[in-house]
Amino acid sequence: MATGLKLNNVSKVYQEGNHHVTALDDVSLSVKPGEFVAVVGPSGSGKSTFLSIAGALLQATSGVVEINGQDLSGLSAKALSNLRVQEIGFILQTSNLIPYLNVFDQLLLVKKMSGSVSKSDKTYANELLESLGLDERLKNFPDQLSGGERQRTAIARAFMNNPSMILADEPTASLDTSRSHEVVQLISKEVKSRNKAAIMVTHDERMLQYCDNVYRMEDGRLQKESPTHV
Ligand SMILES: Nc1ncnc2c1ncn2[C@@H]1O[C@H](COP(=O)(O)OP(=O)(O)OP(=O)(O)O)[C@@H](O)[C@H]1O
Ligand SMILES: [Mg+2]
Repeated sequence: MATGLKLNNVSKVYQEGNHHVTALDDVSLSVKPGEFVAVVGPSGSGKSTFLSIAGALLQATSGVVEINGQDLSGLSAKALSNLRVQEIGFILQTSNLIPYLNVFDQLLLVKKMSGSVSKSDKTYANELLESLGLDERLKNFPDQLSGGERQRTAIARAFMNNPSMILADEPTASLDTSRSHEVVQLISKEVKSRNKAAIMVTHDERMLQYCDNVYRMEDGRLQKESPTHV
């Protein structure tokens, strides 16, 4: 059952020779299904590290990470990979599209990776792409798209598997203002209508209005912003 994300006293230390960086320092947070959380904070404060750990891409140095009640420390590499495919929709700073697949096939690939592609999957892919203003671009390849179109394709791809969690690292960085609002509204709609847990790292204060809670990361420490700042 989807119960959301829980981090308890999570720290991350990057070790490089005898030099080490504490990127996360005793972070605790829970995000429930239907909750849209924003994380703001200066460059280098640990936001991407935090998202990577929340999304089971990176292991914490200490502390407990639970996704839908499952403690990640007990899972094999294979189980972690399955969990990522089935439960998590990542939207990263760069779109990371596959260069030799067109827009429509980028979405179907997600389904192929987790089983097979049905007619309703194709319908859903069409609906998603239409809602993101990409219906004219279905047959285009990534190098034929603008930066914004590539990012919107990546967002549609993240929703394709109906994951229980959405993790977005500056999803609006390459979009203009009106597209930024549209995209974040779309994430918010997905969170509310399908009861997903979502975290979005953003530098854009105008996007915070769509979020339920705002946290600030500073020097690896995460603090909830008081509601007056939201
Ligand atoms: N793989 C790594 N090895 C060593 N240090 C790292 C690694 N990844 C990140 N760091 C360091 O950890 C700290 C946090 O980095 P992180 O990328 O999480 O910050 P961020 O808040 O996402 O920054 P930005 O806003 O610029 O994306 C920084 O000091 C960074 O240099
Ligand atoms: Mg980052």
